[in-house]
Amino acid sequence: MNILGISAFYHDSAATLVRDGEIIAAAQEERFTRKKHDNRFPSNAVEYCLSEGNLTAEQIDYVVFYEKPLVKFERLLETYIAYAPRGFKQFLMGIPLWLRQKLHLPREMDKALNYNYNGRYVFTEHHESHAASAFYPSPFKKAAILTMDGVGEWATASYGVGHGNKIELTHVLHFPHSLGLLYSAFTYFTGFRVNSGEYKMMGLAPYGEPKYYELILEKLVDLKDDGSFRLNMSYLPYCHKTVMTGSKFEELFGGPPRRSESPLTQREMDIAASIQAVTEEILLRAAKHVHRQTGMKNLVLAGGVALNCVGNSRILRDGPFEKIWIQPAAGDAGGALGAALFVWYQLLNNKRKVDGHDKQQASLLGPAYNDEQIRLFLDSVNAKYHTYTNQEELIKKVAELIGQEKVIGWFQGRMEFGPRALGNRSIIGDARSQKMQSVMNRKIKFRESFRPFAPCVLREDAHNYFEMPDEQDSPYMLLTAYVCDDKRSPLNTPLEKLKGLDKLKVKRSSVPAITHVDYSARIQTVDAERHSKLHRLMSRFKETTGCPVIINTSFNIRGEPIVCSPEHAYRCFMATNMDVLVMENQLLYKEEQPQATKHEIDEYKAQFQLD
Ligand SMILES: [Fe+2]
Repeated sequence: MNILGISAFYHDSAATLVRDGEIIAAAQEERFTRKKHDNRFPSNAVEYCLSEGNLTAEQIDYVVFYEKPLVKFERLLETYIAYAPRGFKQFLMGIPLWLRQKLHLPREMDKALNYNYNGRYVFTEHHESHAASAFYPSPFKKAAILTMDGVGEWATASYGVGHGNKIELTHVLHFPHSLGLLYSAFTYFTGFRVNSGEYKMMGLAPYGEPKYYELILEKLVDLKDDGSFRLNMSYLPYCHKTVMTGSKFEELFGGPPRRSESPLTQREMDIAASIQAVTEEILLRAAKHVHRQTGMKNLVLAGGVALNCVGNSRILRDGPFEKIWIQPAAGDAGGALGAALFVWYQLLNNKRKVDGHDKQQASLLGPAYNDEQIRLFLDSVNAKYHTYTNQEELIKKVAELIGQEKVIGWFQGRMEFGPRALGNRSIIGDARSQKMQSVMNRKIKFRESFRPFAPCVLREDAHNYFEMPDEQDSPYMLLTAYVCDDKRSPLNTPLEKLKGLDKLKVKRSSVPAITHVDYSARIQTVDAERHSKLHRLMSRFKETTGCPVIINTSFNIRGEPIVCSPEHAYRCFMATNMDVLVMENQLLYKEEQPQATKHEIDEYKAQFQLD
């Protein structure tokens, strides 16, 4: 039985194909259209899923959409009425898309499937989809489920229990009280883009002090012991305005929002630190409450808030659960996957087998390209490349190049599903290099200098470099951990006193390129089962250097979706200062290619809107 899951029309549209309970394919639309967070109907992703499954639309048994549009529309209407006549402008802006597409989803989906699909359309609830995406692929037979995001229909958070093949969500928190929207309001206020820059604000937090923590809890968030809360909406006008914060908010935080791209000041860093601390407090209280209520040992998480890896780690470190598992595509893209699994297990009551391993397949669920396809493309653009018929030779060479501080585009196997590059569409480099953080930010990614880089670490060495329990892994880069004491560099007093962005000047560990200013790192553990080739490469690098850690950042520049095809990868390689590109068994050196001119670099950057 083939089930096609779809999420669309909010942010991060995606499609997934589930066959007899197994995930066959999953991809975000942005990777194909090259428009980041593309929220249009995922026609390309659907087409890819069908081709991966060797299917035509007639052969699909169910198409399932990840939320209930009519209920969502009801929420918009009711919110409008509650605030009327304020909010009329916002209401008018949203209505055309609803009338044109969102209220006619079966019609839109018929069209997208070329009128070849004759089966039923199923609509699951938004948080059911998140919950299903967290529980069904998890390695647990039973677990508590916690979902948190901006908003779905009415729910902004939910919890309950998954057991065998069934999930039951027993409690929900309703709009407008939303941790996701609260976090987004601060994202907006600190000058980053909503639904995109949340990650940056989290990365900025360690530069600041949580000075506003008490103030936020006193004025904005009425937080209960059980982690539920009410927001004081007089500070947060998002129900009736197109902006997320207003004049009362500005009074509280000393002036207007930071204009995007203007210099960051200590105020933004302190605000980021404060809202991050509040978020962690909410998550911890919620986790403790859910633990008490459900009596479960394990917890699964999804919803956009579950991409807050610092928060996830607090739950793991200071919370009551023994193990946690987080859906890698925790945002709305993952709703497509959850919706499809929900139909298979919950509605069709199929048996679920649990064997201690997760069923996410390393989240490598997107398109792959073989050597022949890659060479065909490279020949078409007259690229110069070296094909390695002996893979060990290739690995040896790449390990050597990493050690020479070369920045390497690493394009292998199936593309990742979810926002993180997990070593198949990655840019990699030497984590021991002191200059690498700044080189990669400025010359490769063209992004803000404060942003940290994440490490890949060999699974078997993770506990030697990072403070994490031996049995814990982090294959999806959704947890952070502190660099171990013996890997840290001793600091003298003047260095310890540096504030704000000056903290960047300090070498903090033997792997400085991936050590954030608070000594944390967002870790991906690499094991041989999930990532055979990358694991071999890293093992080789360790053999020659003693270091089991490398930098792993997504293969893209600022504002660009992660590359999907060899063409995307080659163009990104040529437009940036990347030194080497490895696509399957083809290796390209920049200096051997026809030179990309400065003008072309600017042209390339101009294609993507700054995020
Ligand atoms: Fe969501």
